[in-house]
Amino acid sequence: MCGIVGYIGNRDAYPIVLNGLKRLEYRGYDSAGIALYDGTKIQLCKTKGKVADLEEKFSRQMATKCKIGIGHTRWATHGVPNDINSHPHYSNSGDLVIIHNGIIENYASIKKELINRGYTFYSDTDTEVLVNLIEDIKINQKVKLGQAVQIALNEVVGAYAIALFDKNKPDEIVVAKLGSPLAIGIGEDEFFVASDATPFIEFTKNAIYLEDEEMAIIRLGKDVNIRKVKDDSSVAPYIQKLKLNLEQIEKGGYDYFMLKEIYEQPSVIKDTYRGRLLADKGIIKLGGLENHIEKFTNADRIIIVACGTSWHAGLVAEYIFEDWARIPVEVEYASEFRYRNPVITDKDIIIAISQSGETADTLAAIKLAKEKGAFVYGICNVVGSTISRATDSGTYTHAGPEIGVASTKAFTTQITVLTMIALKLAKVKGTISQSNYRLHLRELELIPSNVEMALQKNNDIEEIAKLFKDATNFLYLGRGYNFPVALEGALKLKEISYIHAEGYPAAEMKHGPIALIDEQMPIVVIAVNSNHYDKVVSNIQEIKSRKGKIIAVVTEGDTVVKELADYIMEVPNTPETLSPLVTTIPLQLLSYHIALMLGRNVDQPRNLAKAVTVE
Ligand code: F6R
Repeated sequence: MCGIVGYIGNRDAYPIVLNGLKRLEYRGYDSAGIALYDGTKIQLCKTKGKVADLEEKFSRQMATKCKIGIGHTRWATHGVPNDINSHPHYSNSGDLVIIHNGIIENYASIKKELINRGYTFYSDTDTEVLVNLIEDIKINQKVKLGQAVQIALNEVVGAYAIALFDKNKPDEIVVAKLGSPLAIGIGEDEFFVASDATPFIEFTKNAIYLEDEEMAIIRLGKDVNIRKVKDDSSVAPYIQKLKLNLEQIEKGGYDYFMLKEIYEQPSVIKDTYRGRLLADKGIIKLGGLENHIEKFTNADRIIIVACGTSWHAGLVAEYIFEDWARIPVEVEYASEFRYRNPVITDKDIIIAISQSGETADTLAAIKLAKEKGAFVYGICNVVGSTISRATDSGTYTHAGPEIGVASTKAFTTQITVLTMIALKLAKVKGTISQSNYRLHLRELELIPSNVEMALQKNNDIEEIAKLFKDATNFLYLGRGYNFPVALEGALKLKEISYIHAEGYPAAEMKHGPIALIDEQMPIVVIAVNSNHYDKVVSNIQEIKSRKGKIIAVVTEGDTVVKELADYIMEVPNTPETLSPLVTTIPLQLLSYHIALMLGRNVDQPRNLAKAVTVE
């Protein structure tokens, strides 16, 4: 969480840094700040609130053209969101200015020592401790800034992506990373620094992604000097060509990124299987999988680790992998897995799913699994992200940037990848009939048009949203493949509308949640064509006899549930195995409309951030 951005070059740093912060705001948005340096005077402005509040506050100050600028958008960890705790932070002398994404875990003991040495602290942050530690080392050990940063980072425990400059060095920015992401954009005679490449995409397509425990001294007119934090050894820069374009990170006429991303699903699902799914030839080709097929087919089990929506995609995968490929699957919250001393052997395969590729718990789960000898396969969206680099192999979802904090297209593209993997393994193992395999290839190819049709029901869903926007609780029920969709539907609603919602397997209702049902309670039931259809109908009857309000997701042409439900949201017919890819669409739209009607900030719901880089 938190977004950092920096610039050094001959343009005016202010608009570049400010615009960069707007693009990174999805990473945290409880406060924002900026520091600019023109070689004589530092101008620093920070505020509780959003980047727009910072812009307003700063426009009241006089900004001169500056060669150096750093900015920060915050998701608070140490210290409440207020002006003082916002970044950037000065060192006591006022010479050093820092921005930081991460957590310094041993900050309290360092702070105590620095206080004993006469340092004063104005904020509650761990970051102010770090910048003063760097200053203390620089002064007392009489070393240059880069070396002071390096020595300090060897003393701290935790995670960081930092950028800082020194008033006495108007041509230099120093950056470093451990755990949190940091990209350096290489322009002609100018450099950019950011948590991801979006702040500099219109200026350069050349980027270096720092690895953990690397730092870089970026000097105008010089090459980027990358060094290992541990031993100061030099690292040859690896410059990547970015494929990202500006259009992908703009709203493209939609009011919110979330809505844009919901509507992108037909095209991004196609992007996910393009060149990989050759239905007419009966082939699935997944680069990352081809060389490791035997590992998968000989595996004792697959353990899927993920968080949030990605964990829900993992639950869908559990059904399809076990059904088709007959490989036992366990799906684990990465945050629990990493701390419970799990039994893992080298016959296990770990699949780590992460849109951002930066989730701290998922990353830690991967490290643990690797230590125990397991083979780790990643399913990430963000190309070059930490998780994609930490895994042994993997498949990108190719969903394009997901900027709305609530995951939508990430979920459906993750399921698309997982479906292709399961089909491929089942084919190789011979656990799926040829006709079923072929049928699913063809049906998967039809999913984009089915999603398109599901999206066409948007107006009906908006009408339903109007009726239920004031409900204080929702239940979401589904069975089999659609049980994880019920969980996902409930998560979407609570995170963007702040209405309490719970997802349950429909049959579990009788074991507790049924007590909640009365005439005020909306219950969203996924009741599409499936092997469990009759059982879901019985569950609906049980709700009806207790006067609950039933909103059912049904297959087009359904008559039975239509009779029983109060409202229906129709989706096209698909095989049950692929149905999560379409049943999730009305649930995304329902949450979106309810949140919008309640006046919520759909793209930036309170307390959340897009990339959860702290545990
Ligand atoms: C929900 C949501 C979160 C993420 C979770 C994992 O809409 O966005 O629950 O799914 O934080 O993030 P990734 O997939 O980036 O690891």
